[in-house]
Amino acid sequence: MARAPLHLKLNRSIVAYAKETEPRVHLPNKTPLNSRVLVLGGTGRVGGSTATALSKLCPDLRIVVGGRNREKGAALVAMLGESSEFAEVNIDNIKSLEAALKDVDLVIHAAGPFQQTETCTVLEAAISTKTAYVDVCDDTSYAWRAKSFHKKAVAANIPAITTAGIYPGVSNVMAAELVRASRGDGRGEPERLRFFYYTAGSGGAGPTILATSFLLLGEDVIAYNKGEKIKLKPYSGMLTIDFGKGIGKRDVYLLNLPEVRSAYEILGVPTVSARFGTAPFFWNWGMVAMTSLLPAEFLRDRSKVQKLVELFDPLVRGIDGIAGERVSMRVDLECSKGRSTLGIFSHRSLSVSVGTATAAFAMAVLEGSTQPGVWFPEEPEGIAIEAREVLLKRAAQGTINFVMNKPPWMVETDPKEIGLGIYV
Ligand SMILES: NC(=O)c1ccc[n+]([C@@H]2O[C@H](COP(=O)([O-])OP(=O)(O)OC[C@H]3O[C@@H](n4cnc5c(N)ncnc54)[C@H](OP(=O)(O)O)[C@@H]3O)[C@@H](O)[C@H]2O)c1
Repeated sequence: MARAPLHLKLNRSIVAYAKETEPRVHLPNKTPLNSRVLVLGGTGRVGGSTATALSKLCPDLRIVVGGRNREKGAALVAMLGESSEFAEVNIDNIKSLEAALKDVDLVIHAAGPFQQTETCTVLEAAISTKTAYVDVCDDTSYAWRAKSFHKKAVAANIPAITTAGIYPGVSNVMAAELVRASRGDGRGEPERLRFFYYTAGSGGAGPTILATSFLLLGEDVIAYNKGEKIKLKPYSGMLTIDFGKGIGKRDVYLLNLPEVRSAYEILGVPTVSARFGTAPFFWNWGMVAMTSLLPAEFLRDRSKVQKLVELFDPLVRGIDGIAGERVSMRVDLECSKGRSTLGIFSHRSLSVSVGTATAAFAMAVLEGSTQPGVWFPEEPEGIAIEAREVLLKRAAQGTINFVMNKPPWMVETDPKEIGLGIYV
């Protein structure tokens, strides 16, 4: 029997406690919120890291590690301790999904890739079993398909967030806060919002992230220029961006990421784009070469991309040892009165910080910040405005640099941007 959605049994004292505390949040040891959270893809890097972060953030939660591989699941459960268990789940099998969601209060879907996936089986099962939902989707089509279940989620009284995680996820909340601050302090109307991301190698994430990157190379990039939707070539439009302390200047390229459309539609900024870059530099060249040499149909074919991943994964892992796992996000907002502000979030390890960030979203849902429906992170009904600060503080645990609402000259090592004269 499915339980009532968690937001109906809010624990206000936990919310208040979280609001009072500084970055390192320790929830009370004996929280009455000893809910069950199922982490799908829990045997993978992002899911495993999320389960670990959640159990640290809120030791009273019961964590169910969901996956197809019992051995991998058992290893994580042994590490997490008594409050965790493993459940064998294949997300392509509705029966196995619904059985796993029984008596679960929140499901976190990290069993990617989300690219070229035609159905939202986990969200549908969450709605039918009345279970709160968070995913770490990083694909535009999937995210908007999830959004199309909004009315069903409202009818079922289920809070759901799509595109949680670090990017997208925390970056959307950073953008929402930059826009809100700019409108509040008379900086003028927001005119241009740009997301810049950098991850060294695979960022320590699992093989799925490699598949994700290759599949994204097969998608036209959707960006917005002065209110007009434009299509651009993937991994084009290189800019050299200064990510500040601990990261420095990095080359970034256009990619089709879901936060561009959600920020455009929800935050109402007329020009929005997203760029990504990796290291060592030759991986960027490899991505440019793949985009030019391989037909887009090949790059959109999951089984062909899977074969590419099998080929490249050992090499990427080998070079990861030298490249490290650092991750950085820089969100830039320019306003009509010529003033610019930005937010930067940098961490030594993508795989660790994505878990911390996803756990922060999960806690926000458990604490009742999310209304029934399917929401993007920048929607106030998804993460309530008053809950954003706590979410960002929790997500920023362990960062080497986290700044918000600063002018570029205060954080850059050299405020000059070298680019190709592309406006988006
Ligand atoms: N939003 C963000 O900030 C963000 C950041 C990084 C990554 N991501 C996304 O997170 C996802 C996971 O990345 P990762 O690095 O954790 O990949 P990973 O290590 O390869 O893990 C993927 C997991 O999904 C599981 N899985 C795959 N298909 C499944 C199925 N049919 N049923 C049940 N489980 C299944 C795998 O289980 P098996 O062991 O059984 O194969 C594995 O545990 C990717 O889609 C990636 O793009 C999002």
